[in-house]
Amino acid sequence: MSETIVVTVGLPGSGKSTYLAGLGVTPISSDAIRQLLADDATDQSIHARVFATMRYLLRQRLALRRLTTYMDATHLTPGERAPYIQIARAYGSRVEALFFDVPLGICLARNTARSRVVPPEALMEMSAKLQPPTESEGFDTVIRID
Ligand SMILES: Nc1ncnc2c1ncn2[C@@H]1O[C@H](COP(=O)(O)OP(=O)(O)OP(=O)(O)O)[C@@H](O)[C@H]1O
Ligand SMILES: [Mg+2]
Repeated sequence: MSETIVVTVGLPGSGKSTYLAGLGVTPISSDAIRQLLADDATDQSIHARVFATMRYLLRQRLALRRLTTYMDATHLTPGERAPYIQIARAYGSRVEALFFDVPLGICLARNTARSRVVPPEALMEMSAKLQPPTESEGFDTVIRID
């Protein structure tokens, strides 16, 4: 049996963490790593370190042959997702994208209603940057959630 890496893709407020909590799984979450490293889930100044830590934890789980590992972050572009495809190839695991295809207006509304608010301008910039995941970038499966 092969291990699977599940990579979330979606804007802040698209419901990634809520969905994963509903599955009852513990993802490797960029916000949780920010909290662990910098005592602040919103610190955006340690981006490279956060994602290096996420990849380190993922490789440790694959080495332990954990069946499924969920990577919870926005992962908006093929460039941000490519490292997981490389890791999957190196470990012979499957890699799936979980695409939260939620309109910007809904993300903006949910964002303002929650405790950790992303600046609306930042959310709009991210929406312009978002490139939906595809099989052609190396995912075995793309699952769309709307
Ligand atoms: N399916 C849904 N229907 C209605 N509200 C939802 C749904 N999913 C999530 N929400 C609400 O939207 C807000 C944002 O959800 P969540 O924190 O899961 O988003 P996220 O994609 O993980 O965002 P981020 O990238 O900032 O971590 C929360 O307040 C949550 O309760
Ligand atoms: Mg989240």
